[in-house]
Amino acid sequence: MHYFAGIDIGSTMTKVAVMDETAMVSSIIGPTGAEHRRLAYRVMEDALDRAGLVFEDLAFVVATGYGRINVPFADKQVTEITCHAKGIHHLLPTVRTVVDVGGQDSKGIKIAGGKVTGFVMNDKCAAGTGRFLEVMADVLGVPLARLGELSLSAERPAEISNTCTVFAEHEVTSRLADGETVPNLIAGIHEAIATRIFALVSKLKIEPDVAVTGGGAKNVGLVRALAAKFSFPVLVPPEPLLTGAIGAALVGKEAYLKALESGETPLRCGRDLKEATFFS
Ligand SMILES: Nc1ncnc2c1ncn2[C@@H]1O[C@H](COP(=O)(O)OP(=O)(O)O)[C@@H](O)[C@H]1O
Ligand SMILES: [Mg+2]
Repeated sequence: MHYFAGIDIGSTMTKVAVMDETAMVSSIIGPTGAEHRRLAYRVMEDALDRAGLVFEDLAFVVATGYGRINVPFADKQVTEITCHAKGIHHLLPTVRTVVDVGGQDSKGIKIAGGKVTGFVMNDKCAAGTGRFLEVMADVLGVPLARLGELSLSAERPAEISNTCTVFAEHEVTSRLADGETVPNLIAGIHEAIATRIFALVSKLKIEPDVAVTGGGAKNVGLVRALAAKFSFPVLVPPEPLLTGAIGAALVGKEAYLKALESGETPLRCGRDLKEATFFS
């Protein structure tokens, strides 16, 4: 059996997926810390431990995400856009449009046959990204992971007129002081983000099915607000945070099998377990 690993060092969360030739055998999700290299070794070792594997069992490792250059043991670095497309094609093969809501950016990706045919990205502004949700959760004193569920009991979403994160923060604080309910405010926040993301993705020709990936897809309130804007059903993979890491593992599997087929010895550059042991 061959094993493949994908490691996605995102701006906010680090994700690892270890796969055999057909399915995922273990995964890790945790915060992205300051020291990417040390973090990369640690999360990879944890993911391997969970699967009862050692580093030498891996046939190929692909790194993706904003910190992908800081994974010394990766055999290949691949962009998040390619990996999200590959991951979603594997998880939900009917999807043609992916909306990835990450910690510091949001993206729209068009795919056909698992390949990217177009994309748009906002990485200039926190509004419309997971960061906006983090800031608002802080302002409201609500854990990030509960925003979605709390928003479902809103009676009437508050209208948030400022799109800028800093101004919206002040707006939410004063609305709270004026007596607006927390669920109404959260629902309004989701509506504001969904509006921005939909405007971004609308630059692409949106085709069904649509899937939401990344940490934003963990928030049921945001997913509902987005779904209301698309005239198609919106799908969410079982663990949306892992989409890019799964895609990375699959890109590695393809690269490895292609090399084998053409009679080459697959290149395994930069793999150094000694260094990994040193860091653990
Ligand atoms: N359990 C959770 N519930 C709700 N939102 C979450 C959860 N975990 C992460 N998020 C959201 O996901 C964002 C990070 O998403 P992610 O796709 O990992 O981004 P990146 O790839 O840029 O690191 C956070 O900013 C946060 O808004
Ligand atoms: Mg990401």
